Amino acid sequence: MVERTLSIVKPDGVMRNLIGEVIGRLEGEGLKIVAMKMIHMNKAQAKGFYKVHEGKPFFESVTDFMSSGPCVVIILEGENVIARYREIMGATNYKDAAEGTIRRDFATDIEKNVVHGSDSLENADIEINYFFNALEIH
Ligand code: TYD
Ligand code: MG
Repeated sequence: MVERTLSIVKPDGVMRNLIGEVIGRLEGEGLKIVAMKMIHMNKAQAKGFYKVHEGKPFFESVTDFMSSGPCVVIILEGENVIARYREIMGATNYKDAAEGTIRRDFATDIEKNVVHGSDSLENADIEINYFFNALEIH
């Protein structure tokens, strides 16, 4: 099934000049970019984005981090792209991530893990609509 998923180059990735590296890997794997922009969330916007994690012990810290600087938000489109991109991205904790994944190669911390990727069709839809309107998707 052709799906869309939301990718984010997180503030650590932007700060460390990894935007090109991430995009290069996505395109190199044949994933198609259909929307992209740079944003800087405030704390409330970061809390809205990570609403599913409200109440968890890492919620305050991860929403501070996500609002600490600009992010690049990207929509990817393709066959089975949600799972394919999760595979390229790697496990949440870079120590568990497979070799050659973005997180294994670049993450420095379970929180500062360079990239985000939607985990399901339902969440991809919610996350895409959180950042983009129809005119911005090509
Ligand atoms: P989660 O959605 O579980 O991971 P993923 O990004 O792989 O979908 O968690 C969201 C982010 O929260 C995760 O990328 C990094 C941060 N986080 C922590 O800081 N500590 C944790 O124990 C977990 C599970 C996540
Ligand atoms: Mg997640």
